[in-house]
Amino acid sequence: MKKKYLLYLILVLSWVILWGCATTSSNANADVIGTLTPVPPDFAGQTNPFGEEAAVAGAAVFKNNCESCHGRQGHGDGPAGTALVPAPKNLALLQTMTGDDYLFWRISFGKDGTAMIAWKDVLTEEQIWQIIAFIRTLE
Ligand code: HEC
Repeated sequence: MKKKYLLYLILVLSWVILWGCATTSSNANADVIGTLTPVPPDFAGQTNPFGEEAAVAGAAVFKNNCESCHGRQGHGDGPAGTALVPAPKNLALLQTMTGDDYLFWRISFGKDGTAMIAWKDVLTEEQIWQIIAFIRTLE
């Protein structure tokens, strides 16, 4: 009788351990960021014409326009973003999963149904590329 219970215990324990392994090995980044909309053809394939050096100027533009919601390191934890639904995205994470073309299109046109406005009405294209160079430095 006792042996039978022990066997059950071992069975349950191994199930719990296996389940734990399965959930931690799933793609955690993709879970946080979700599915991204494909880049519209007019923007697809664009790369930053100003290069990595633009990150220095981009840091200042980001600080003035994006930090309040996205946070200093772009982790989506700025003070103005805490009450927003959906919350501002973690840009440090997002940038590892997407191209310059996506970022340029998304920052320019914003995202309907969220607090993310179309920045093409506020910033120049050069400033947006500078921000993208800065976002590329975030971890
Ligand atoms: C008023 C708060 C606010 C400000 C300011 C703001 N954002 Fe956002 N941002 C958001 C929110 C909210 C989202 C939507 C998150 C989502 O859909 O999950 C977002 C989403 C994004 C996304 C990802 C959208 C996606 O899902 O593909 C990028 C990239 C981004 N912001 C960049 C910027 C940049 C760059 C600036 C500054 C020029 C900026 N944001 C300023 C609130 C803000």
